[in-house]
Amino acid sequence: MSEICAETIYEQCRTTSEWLLSHTDIRPTVGIVCGSGLGGLAKMIKDPVVFKYTDIPNFPESTVPGHAGQLVFGTLKGKPCVCMQGRFHLYEGYPIHKVTLPIRVFKLMGVETMILTNAAGGLNQDYKVGDVMVIKDHINMPGFSGNHPLTGPNDERFGVRFPCMSNAYDRELRQAAHDAAAELGYDFLQEGVYCVLAGPSFETIAECRMLHKLGADAVGMSTVHEVIVAHHAGMRCFALSLITNAAVMDYDSKEKANHAEVLETGRYRAEQLEKLVSNMVAGLQHKNNNGSL
Ligand code: HPA
Repeated sequence: MSEICAETIYEQCRTTSEWLLSHTDIRPTVGIVCGSGLGGLAKMIKDPVVFKYTDIPNFPESTVPGHAGQLVFGTLKGKPCVCMQGRFHLYEGYPIHKVTLPIRVFKLMGVETMILTNAAGGLNQDYKVGDVMVIKDHINMPGFSGNHPLTGPNDERFGVRFPCMSNAYDRELRQAAHDAAAELGYDFLQEGVYCVLAGPSFETIAECRMLHKLGADAVGMSTVHEVIVAHHAGMRCFALSLITNAAVMDYDSKEKANHAEVLETGRYRAEQLEKLVSNMVAGLQHKNNNGSL
């Protein structure tokens, strides 16, 4: 229990944010989390200041292939930002408050808007591999069984005990993504519901069928915990799923979900996804999720 004492988490985040701010002059207002195979976004950041996760106090280490495991500070289209090149997942064995610790550190550093990307399996039968789904809502499966990032004593310095989640994915930012995609001539943007599972095994056919029936358009193993914590702390959130594979729904199918396919699809669509995000960042007006500028 002592490990999830609210005071300890807040103090840990404070220590980490103060350490980072004392090692860089950048004061980020935009936080970015790069999903599997999508770390190239960090390369668009100008005048980068890079910290390996292993050098940052209280940070876990990233253990997943395709995740560089470093924090990159700099400017993207003139906006001061900080980018996680590699995130933490439940399946790596971290307690959920460690998975989301960087998001709270971002909050304490002054981040107002979060942009998150992930790789996901497509459940919606209209989606093609290579489509990009703007997340409009989520289903938090681990949360149903009590593995929720806000479990434990609530620290009001982050947010309220019972946060409303009906507007977790900011409507204006979603519209901005559609506008940016139209401007760039991208015809692969979808919008839908993302379901998070703990992983690390990919879903069975029966599980994919169930998730689809429950209203999920894509399935993955990340993002939702981070969005819950960011929204709780008053940051605006925007998230994208790159559909890297079609979830297998049919017992006659010979398809098999695998991590190599996930990384390969990331490579071919990554550049366009990066352009979309950077164009959105260029147009960001800063305001918190209470609506005030
Ligand atoms: N399932 C879960 N996570 C994933 C998938 C998938 O099919 N593809 C990429 N991440």
